[in-house]
Amino acid sequence: MSDQRVYVFDTTLRDGEQVPGSKLNTEQKLKIALQLEELGVDVIEAGFPVSSKGDFTSVQEIGRIIKNTTVCGLSRAVEKDIEVAAQALMYATYPRIHTGIGTSDIHIKHKFNSTREKTLERAVGAVKYAKSFVEDVEFYAEDAGRSDIKFLARVTEAVINAGATVINVPDTTGYCLPHEYGEKIRYLYENVPNMHKAILSTHCHNDLGLATANSLAGVENGARQVEGTINGIGERAGNSALEEIIMILKKRLPHFETGINTKLLNSISRLISETMNMPVQANKAIVGENAFAHSSGIHQDGVLKLRENYEIIDPLEVGVDHSKIVLTARSGRAALAYKAKQLGYDLQGEELNRTYERFLQVADEVKFVNRDHLLKLLENVPVEIVVR
Ligand code: KIV
Ligand code: ZN
Repeated sequence: MSDQRVYVFDTTLRDGEQVPGSKLNTEQKLKIALQLEELGVDVIEAGFPVSSKGDFTSVQEIGRIIKNTTVCGLSRAVEKDIEVAAQALMYATYPRIHTGIGTSDIHIKHKFNSTREKTLERAVGAVKYAKSFVEDVEFYAEDAGRSDIKFLARVTEAVINAGATVINVPDTTGYCLPHEYGEKIRYLYENVPNMHKAILSTHCHNDLGLATANSLAGVENGARQVEGTINGIGERAGNSALEEIIMILKKRLPHFETGINTKLLNSISRLISETMNMPVQANKAIVGENAFAHSSGIHQDGVLKLRENYEIIDPLEVGVDHSKIVLTARSGRAALAYKAKQLGYDLQGEELNRTYERFLQVADEVKFVNRDHLLKLLENVPVEIVVR
């Protein structure tokens, strides 16, 4: 495998599902897990088995049906959590236990009332215990974003010696700037003597809107796994949006490879938004309703001449049929003629000018001119405007 291969770890069903009001039942989780496998993610974090009976069952059932993708269960650095995660993963073809503990001084002192030395011991103990159940053990250093880098490096070296296969470096509070997060990953990559025995993973939260940028800084500095959720859902401001990271790698950093079929991004985004009751904002990159919609005259004219004038992604690449021309009071004649043509009317010259004048009168009264309005304009009948 090329060392430029970036593994995609989806945690929509675990970190993503922590959003209040987005709880999923097992059947819904199975449907999403199958779609994630189809999408080509490398790891599905299916849940936190010790947290509830329902989560245990979901992880177990996902482990049963998923055949080609690693299925992962979360645990704290607690023996009981690890045992329950191992049981839940019993049927998985490729099981992974994800265990860890907070490594920042603030977590060590104010969450665990502990010390760095005891934290290091617990981290190593947890990895060794998880390793007694499964081969593939990922270690997370919670709040790594605010952890002392030298201590983080010591923990990393120790847990790799204990058998960790992946080291997750979460910016749990979304605190880091991209260059800081990148430097953290680079430091571990260059200074941990046994780093070549494990993969470094990004896990960025979006509290300052930097989750995607931080994840990419991680990849550019040596991380080869990215963690995130579809649509960027997650607690507070959410996790890094996988669709963004994947498309940035594809369009701007193509020397990195993923196993993702990007044509399925739009459909999985919709599935998750509907099932989890989380609308996607219209201007969301890649999967928002307006991501490929053009409404101003200058842009419409440009995009109709050559799509690339205003689009850097072909909508087909992410599973959207076509770009959208939306008729508004900012639209020009080119867009009007284009939309009229789609309805079978060839508007040109004076006829186009006359229709455009009437079009503007309607457009000034409504948010956008829809198909019905347009048909009436083209058939020269009065347009009834319903103001809501
Ligand atoms: O954000 C975080 O630190 C996490 C860990 C539990 C992996 O989600
Ligand atoms: Zn997280």
